[in-house]
Amino acid sequence: MSRLLVAGLPLVPKLLVGKVAARYVAGETAAEAFEVIRSLNQEGALATLDILGESVDDRSKARAAAEEYVSLFDAIEEQGLDANVSIKLTLLGLDIDESFCRDNVEEIAVAAARYGNFVRIDMEDHPTQDATFRIYHELQARHGNLGVVLQAYMRRILDDIAALPAEGGNVRLCKGIYLEPREVAWKGFDTVRMNFLAALEKILDGAIYPAVATHDEYLVAAAVRMIDRAGLDRERYEFQMLLGVEETLRRILVRQGHRVRVYVPYGRDWYPYSLRRMRENPQVAGHVMRALFARKGF
Ligand code: FDA
Repeated sequence: MSRLLVAGLPLVPKLLVGKVAARYVAGETAAEAFEVIRSLNQEGALATLDILGESVDDRSKARAAAEEYVSLFDAIEEQGLDANVSIKLTLLGLDIDESFCRDNVEEIAVAAARYGNFVRIDMEDHPTQDATFRIYHELQARHGNLGVVLQAYMRRILDDIAALPAEGGNVRLCKGIYLEPREVAWKGFDTVRMNFLAALEKILDGAIYPAVATHDEYLVAAAVRMIDRAGLDRERYEFQMLLGVEETLRRILVRQGHRVRVYVPYGRDWYPYSLRRMRENPQVAGHVMRALFARKGF
């Protein structure tokens, strides 16, 4: 049933998806995202700001995204917000040309460095990953203020951790969201959980800064235990969650004194992002379908 609901999502009118998307997306403009970040900061949480969009095939769109990212750092500073940014390389031109994309990312990293800020490179699907690591390693060696994402479903993850820089390594660890072939990705809920914890153990052994990005309470509890055993103080790790997901767990972690960073996406390109979030949680898909047929509840 859940699968059926999820499969039907692309047929749902965009207006209706938009109503559910309001939960996962801060708005269409940076100003709206700043308001969301302000209230997260007041709650004791940090933020990472993401401009929605991916897979651009037009240089001018990639340039516009890079310039918008650059301008975010001035605004974050002026408004006294506690936030960094997350970027997707295919929004910044990776599908067009790797060196064009690298130059765009470098411009963002330089703008961040002016304020001592930080740039997280999101991880996309497996055909993009070698290039993503190349760009990350090259720019991290030059600027030192970038971090990358590792997906626990990837079979290559332990090798990727081994290749991280000894100094200043900073990774977001998540399960992984893309539909990947079995050749490259572990399948199965428990298998991915096990690989997540194996990866976290290796990250902690390597004294790399972990951003533990999950809403899975089992993994959160296991990570709390591992961090406690490693004796890390609160500046040396963080948890991360998506806007609109598991807000109770987020507040519990903040109250317990952990640093929690919330992924805050904004922009006009909210539709594919929102569909992905709904696919992750068939319960949400169920609400959409009920609203579609009952025409109430939103
Ligand atoms: P899981 O999917 O098992 O969810 C655990 C519980 O959380 C569910 O039972 C449900 O209660 C709740 N939940 C999860 N998703 C929900 C939703 N959409 N709506 C409501 N409740 C929901 N992936 C990637 O490939 N590249 C990346 O760069 C990133 N970046 C990233 C940043 C951050 C901050 C987070 C938190 C996640 C990512 N991801 C990602 C996505 C990640 O790979 C993964 O798909 C999701 O986090 C869901 O996995 P969980 O670990 O939360 O477990």
